[in-house]
Amino acid sequence: MSEGEDGGRRRLVRPPTGGDPAGRGVSTRVRTADQRSLSSQQWLHRQLNDPYVQRAKAEGWRSRAAFKLIEIDDRFHLLRRGARVIDLGCAPGGWVQVALQRGAVEVVGVDLLPVDPIPGAVLIEGDFTAEGMERRLTQALGGAPDVILSDMAPNTMGHPATDHLRIVSLIEAAAAFADQALKPGGAFLTKTFQGGATGELLAGLKRRFADVRHVKPKASRADSAEVYLIATGLRRR
Ligand SMILES: C[S@@+](CC[C@H](N)C(=O)[O-])C[C@H]1O[C@@H](n2cnc3c(N)ncnc32)[C@H](O)[C@@H]1O
Repeated sequence: MSEGEDGGRRRLVRPPTGGDPAGRGVSTRVRTADQRSLSSQQWLHRQLNDPYVQRAKAEGWRSRAAFKLIEIDDRFHLLRRGARVIDLGCAPGGWVQVALQRGAVEVVGVDLLPVDPIPGAVLIEGDFTAEGMERRLTQALGGAPDVILSDMAPNTMGHPATDHLRIVSLIEAAAAFADQALKPGGAFLTKTFQGGATGELLAGLKRRFADVRHVKPKASRADSAEVYLIATGLRRR
């Protein structure tokens, strides 16, 4: 069972659907350390000792990212019962599980990577920015979404200026989709990075949504530059 991280509203939840039941009893030792590079050893060590990774496995969530959405939703109540949700960059499916488990009736996810089926969700393998994908997502949902989630993060190339541009353009594409596709009153949650959301993008969101704010959930690693932008109450055109 899972409940919110922030000590706020405590809500008991059903176990998520589509989880990996074989995740208990994780060893915290890196057994083949001599065969790994230092950075992959460090990554593995951090994964194995991360309490959110362990909790995700124990509770059947497909990713530790599930706890970020749980925490955000406990505070901002984006996922109302009966909601229609689109999840951009959904692999491996933690946020899709959370949306369903919190009462969403329709959930459509898209990712560059294949995602194992999750009962109750339509999962599309493809590039969100590809021609025709936005229409495909709304058609699969069968109507305008109440909530658009985006946890998309492009692969970094190691070239800071190029990486920055790729991040900004992905966030802008998701925000433009939210503006155009959401129901009036709808909500948009997107991952961004410190310095990733331009002033122009923020100003645009503030014009179109009643409330826009940044949040850094506890489940987001302190040494990560990621922060989330929450825009609620899309205004009518
Ligand atoms: C941090 S993961 C998402 C984790 C997910 N929220 C969960 O709870 O399991 C980010 C995902 O964004 C996807 N992604 C990045 N760029 C994308 C794009 N242009 N179209 C679709 N997915 C994309 C990546 O493939 C990756 O799986």
